Amino acid sequence: MGTVWMIASGKGGVGKSTIASALGVALAKRGQKTCIVDADIGLRDQDAILGLADRVVYDLVDVANKDCRLPQALISPADVPNLSLLPAAQFARAKALDRKAFRRILLLLKETNDQIIIDCPAGIERSLRGLMNELVDKTIVVCTPDDVCIRNAERVVALMQEKSLPRPQLIVNRLDAQLIQAGEMYTASTVAQTLDVELLGEIPEDPMVYRTLLKHMTVMDVACEAHEAMERIARRMVGLSTDFPSYGAVKPGFFRRLFAPKLKEVKRLDC
Ligand SMILES: Nc1ncnc2c1ncn2[C@@H]1O[C@H](COP(=O)(O)OP(=O)(O)OP(=O)(O)O)[C@@H](O)[C@H]1O
Ligand SMILES: [Mg+2]
Repeated sequence: MGTVWMIASGKGGVGKSTIASALGVALAKRGQKTCIVDADIGLRDQDAILGLADRVVYDLVDVANKDCRLPQALISPADVPNLSLLPAAQFARAKALDRKAFRRILLLLKETNDQIIIDCPAGIERSLRGLMNELVDKTIVVCTPDDVCIRNAERVVALMQEKSLPRPQLIVNRLDAQLIQAGEMYTASTVAQTLDVELLGEIPEDPMVYRTLLKHMTVMDVACEAHEAMERIARRMVGLSTDFPSYGAVKPGFFRRLFAPKLKEVKRLDC
């Protein structure tokens, strides 16, 4: 039986879909049969990210409503045959997805895949709650290193606990080593400590992420820092240990410190 990973965040636009697609490609290239479920109903984007937009015929809601069979809706990139995508419905509302039907789809996907990644919608409302069931084996919360995102992530961590899901692991995205060294941005481990969750990975701010999006590619198609970070996370997901790069944890040299603007401690806001 495959492992179901749920990727959520609370705040929108923090990188869930970017991370889901890159991890899907990374795991599939490691030989893991992987399926990405785009569960952001009404805001479909995984097909565009993976360059599969013109291949979509059926979607998650069609399968749930039994308008087609699951294999008819699954599409794969030609160069990553181990990866499949179950696209989200473009024009439906979240309530169109029946909970029991979603559970049934997950069960089928677990039978035929090693890894199933659910790319969740932002927020903590019905659209997310409806995806939470006992078939979810692992949960990941994506957070950027700022108080707004941390506050929203706290709500998701609490919701997961309320729904008896496994304690989430954390991916901190868009880290900037210079800002961390200048004392203006939290380190990934500070975010993990604040949320009281285990750190699964840290990803730097990397202009290649957006450049690959423009070309309907993922960062796994190019050599860049974000690619390496995703690869490390994928390795950890399958139980292989890797070092943490600890962006910004290395102290700058003497002259850099001498001429740097005065360091200011980043304090957590009272939420
Ligand atoms: N590490 C990164 N460096 C630079 N840009 C990034 C990084 N991660 C994500 N982005 C950019 O941030 C934007 C939002 O990413 P993405 O769509 O993956 O977020 P999301 O959490 O799925 O959003 P939503 O909540 O709307 O589903 C995209 O333009 C993406 O290219
Ligand atoms: Mg998304």
